[in-house]
Amino acid sequence: MLTFHVITLFPELISNYVETSIIGRGIKAGKLCVRTYNPRDFTTDSYRKVDDTPYGGGVGMVLKPEPFFAAYESIPRNADSPVLLMSPQGERFAHSSASKLSDSLEITILCGHYEGFDERIRTLATHEFSIGDYVLTGGELASLVIIDAVGRLVPGVVGKHLSVQTESFSDGLLEGPSYTKPVEFRGMQVPEVVRGGNHKAIAAWRRQEALRRTFERRPDLLETAELSDEDRRYIRFLSEQTS
Ligand code: ADE
Repeated sequence: MLTFHVITLFPELISNYVETSIIGRGIKAGKLCVRTYNPRDFTTDSYRKVDDTPYGGGVGMVLKPEPFFAAYESIPRNADSPVLLMSPQGERFAHSSASKLSDSLEITILCGHYEGFDERIRTLATHEFSIGDYVLTGGELASLVIIDAVGRLVPGVVGKHLSVQTESFSDGLLEGPSYTKPVEFRGMQVPEVVRGGNHKAIAAWRRQEALRRTFERRPDLLETAELSDEDRRYIRFLSEQTS
């Protein structure tokens, strides 16, 4: 069982998504647990103030450290477990990070909001992650991306674990095309090879299609993917075709 502790000013955003998705199935199956902690519940003033104006001036408001720290300290967590801060300044979140995190028993996620957060909140985190080079209005969407990408790697959350192991990125390549019935649709045919029962030929075709997709769309991935001599021969063939 993997538990996510999420510190957020918008707990409904997190709970609504996780309850109505495959992740929700994982929760019902007892494989995942998602808990939220709202810094506003840890304020001590009558306005329940979670942000304030920045020192030194400037536009916008900054999240105050006290309610954030109080929310964090209320979490019944193992002191060695990872604490992720969502921010556009973080390391780019990738499949490799999701894969490492999916071995954890507990993950705490801190969602920033508004224009920024007090720098001292950063000291709570063991990792800082960005989901891409753009600025979101808050860390909630980013933390849902992490919960979804990590949660689905936990065995028993996605129906067949095998499908997680053969999909895009798990072997460093993009996945090739998939087909289902009918054999012909609006003049478009399902390739002959996948219609037959030759499993070895199908596996070879799938590998080649994955290599072709990756070569065409994300050639950078070929530099780090694990490739056999035969894979390399096929990539050479592809590059000769395009040159
Ligand atoms: N918070 C705001 N923008 C973000 C981004 N790109 N990634 C992660 N957290 C964020």
